Parts: sequence; structure tokens; C-alpha cells
Amino acid sequence: MTKKIGIIGGGNVGSALNKGLTAAGYETRVSDETNVRDVAIGADVIILAVPFTAIDAVISSAGDAFDGKLIVDVTNTLDAKMGFAAQASSGAEELQKKLPRAKVTKAFNTVFAQHMSAGRLRGEALTAFVAGDDEAARNQVLKLAKDIGFDSLSAGPLANARHLEAFGYLNIQLGYVLGHGAMTGFQYIRST
Ligand SMILES: NC(=O)c1ccc[n+]([C@@H]2O[C@H](COP(=O)([O-])OP(=O)(O)OC[C@H]3O[C@@H](n4cnc5c(N)ncnc54)[C@H](OP(=O)(O)O)[C@@H]3O)[C@@H](O)[C@H]2O)c1
Repeated sequence: MTKKIGIIGGGNVGSALNKGLTAAGYETRVSDETNVRDVAIGADVIILAVPFTAIDAVISSAGDAFDGKLIVDVTNTLDAKMGFAAQASSGAEELQKKLPRAKVTKAFNTVFAQHMSAGRLRGEALTAFVAGDDEAARNQVLKLAKDIGFDSLSAGPLANARHLEAFGYLNIQLGYVLGHGAMTGFQYIRST
């Protein structure tokens, strides 16, 4: 089992994932803005649960503490006006370029924070899609998600974060613009 998980950002997402991972038996530590580097140094896996617009500040706070670590990027690529920060690649691929010695994965961004502590909605397991280029890292995050209670599914290489980020934005549109609310989520029905 992955032993130590550092969660950068203790807001809606960070606190929900902290609750779910703690319940699943993981050792976690949640950062505030003052101790990002300290939390990162002590962790095997680092979950980035901060606004997309804060990523550069977090990287700057961490210094080299993300080197060699498995990074789980939960951000939705929103600009300061909550619009989709569209780009040719994805926020996760750009993050990987900024952190070449880390193993970046994209996960949980298509799920509302309300369901991140249990991975379930009305008794049904929601699907947590995980994209990443490093297969072992991707498998570790798939296991984290499953241990929380999600149905976890590989979404393939990190380039597929482009689609997960668009999917996350669609989730926000459906929930908060088109009026379906946050007691909603996606389950990928399949036979294997
Ligand atoms: N909410 C959802 O349902 C949901 C679902 C999927 C993905 N996401 C994504 O997950 C991320 C977090 O969302 P959220 O709803 O948890 O946001 P949130 O409640 O606003 O929490 C953001 C957290 O990041 C911290 N933070 C901001 N700048 C920081 C910095 N420079 N260094 C360290 N910590 C910093 C904040 O600390 P302070 O409060 O001290 O500023 C806060 O604890 C976002 O990228 C969002 O798009 C959200």
C-alpha cells in the first residue's frame, strides 16, 4: 500500500479526499499555503487540490520536493472567471513539462467534491478515470481510487487528460449552469 499521501490544498476537494483516504487506511497530511514544501517532502504521493491558477505558486513553494514523486492532478482547468482555460494540450501535460522528474497523473477531476470521500452516489460507485504515462503510477492511483470506494478505470496516457479536463468542464456545466446540481456523477458501464 502507498504509505504517505500529501494533499496540497485543504478545501472542498482536499478535505474530501483526505476523509476518504484516511478511512481507507492511508496516512495523509494536508497542506496550507505555509507548508507545501514540508508536506511534499514527507509524501510518496502528492495530490494537487488547488485552483488551476495556483499551480505555479505551488510549484514555486515546493521547490525540488516534487522530484521523483507521484503527482495526482485533480485540478479543473478553469481561468479566474471560471471559464475553460482551453489549451492545445492539457493542464496535466503542461504540469508534467514543469515537473519533468515527477510522475504526473490526472484523476478525480470529473467528480464533484461531494462524492470524493466515498466515491459513491446513491449506493452506486462513480467512475474515477485515471490518465498517466507511467503505468505503475497510474495503477497506484487506480488503487487509491478503488480503496476510497470508486469504480476506477484507466483512461490511458497523460495526453488523454485533455479529454478528462473537457469532461470535468462538462460536469461543471451540467451541475452548476444547466441546473442538475452536485448530487450527480458519472459511471462508465462496461462488461469487462
Ligand atoms: N469542488 C469540486 O467539486 C471539484 C471537483 C473536481 C475538481 N476540482 C478541482 O480541484 C481543485 C480544488 O477545488 P476545491 O473545490 O477544493 O477548491 P477550494 O475549496 O477553493 O480549495 C482550494 C485550496 O487550495 C488552497 N490553495 C490556494 N492557493 C494555494 C497555494 N498557492 N498553495 C497552497 N495551497 C493553496 C486553498 O487554501 P486557502 O483557502 O488558504 O486559500 C484551499 O485550501 C480545483 O482545481 C478545482 O477545479 C474541484
